[in-house]
Amino acid sequence: MDNSHLLNLKMQIEKRLFELVPQKCVENSSVNEWLKESFDAQLYPLAAGGKRIRPLMCLLMAGSVGGELALQLALETGCALEFIHTYSLVHDDLPCMDNDDLRRGKPTVHKVYGEAKALLVGDGLLTQSFSILGQIPALCPSHVGLPSLVAALVSLFSRHAGPEGMCLGQWLDISLTGVVSGIAWKELSLLHNLKTGALLGVALEAGLLCALADTHKHPANFYHFLQSPEINEQRLLLFKAGEKVGLAFQIVDDILDVIASSEELGKTAGKDCVQAKSTAVTLLGLEGARGLAKSLLKEASDEIKQGWRVENSLQKGRTEPYRKGLLELLESLVDRRF
Ligand code: IPE
Ligand code: IPE
Ligand code: MG
Ligand code: MG
Ligand code: MG
Repeated sequence: MDNSHLLNLKMQIEKRLFELVPQKCVENSSVNEWLKESFDAQLYPLAAGGKRIRPLMCLLMAGSVGGELALQLALETGCALEFIHTYSLVHDDLPCMDNDDLRRGKPTVHKVYGEAKALLVGDGLLTQSFSILGQIPALCPSHVGLPSLVAALVSLFSRHAGPEGMCLGQWLDISLTGVVSGIAWKELSLLHNLKTGALLGVALEAGLLCALADTHKHPANFYHFLQSPEINEQRLLLFKAGEKVGLAFQIVDDILDVIASSEELGKTAGKDCVQAKSTAVTLLGLEGARGLAKSLLKEASDEIKQGWRVENSLQKGRTEPYRKGLLELLESLVDRRF
């Protein structure tokens, strides 16, 4: 898969993301101005940009095992994940958290709309994510397994975005900000796995679930099939591989905070030091952190290759570019500059 194919996928993701922002209007009402403002505010952080790494991983994983339906399902699912990720950034930037003015190259949501409305934008994006998942069965009403796919996705998303996953990681991050002693790599890697690894784990596992819904179009009991020991093992393997990618991704984020400029990053550089956060760089040094990120990405790629044991010979020719694309995407993460 060449770079233009990846860019094409990214464009498809962005087009769909913007369509999924709900818009409400009441005829001849004096509050329409505020309804419109709410829509603009939801769209603002989504449209500002972003690497779209989570939906891309979800789509590439789906395409690496399944066919056209897998990709269709993964587009919705990946967008739902990007809504959750974007909400996490809006809240992460609030003055009561990291207090950031710049995100995706634009003033942060609270700088434009005020804190109370930024909180609501985050709440709205999070809730809308589950609404997107809930609409998935409408894509293919004849597929009796799709309600079970949605149940599995809702459970996966809520478990890893919530107080057992990303929110818990953010909780630890806030709790340990300014704490300089007693934090070793064991503690920091737990924090990074939760705050960033969890959603990247979801990206790969969700991509697999979408692919399975494609390769098993007439399931006797799709819900139980998804919980069966063999599939569970595969799901866990891919979740863990994605989590490792997330750990490496956050290590690189910590490195870039030190070595890149705000212009390159589209967010304020040097924040971790100002806020006295323990990071991969403060604990391992720049070279140590980079080396670890590289070896984690190599391990994750090897594990993903193992996950491709779910082979569907009918799809083989079509899955190859997605497999290649996913591995190339992961390889590019260590040297990314934004
Ligand atoms: C930023 O995520 C927060 C981290 C988890 C490191 P991204 O680096 O994926 O941010 P965008 O989506 O590209 O803006
Ligand atoms: C944020 O981590 C992770 C989440 C939003 C869950 P950071 O605070 O390091 O992310 P940036 O550097 O602000 O993007
Ligand atoms: Mg933070
Ligand atoms: Mg931050
Ligand atoms: Mg950071």
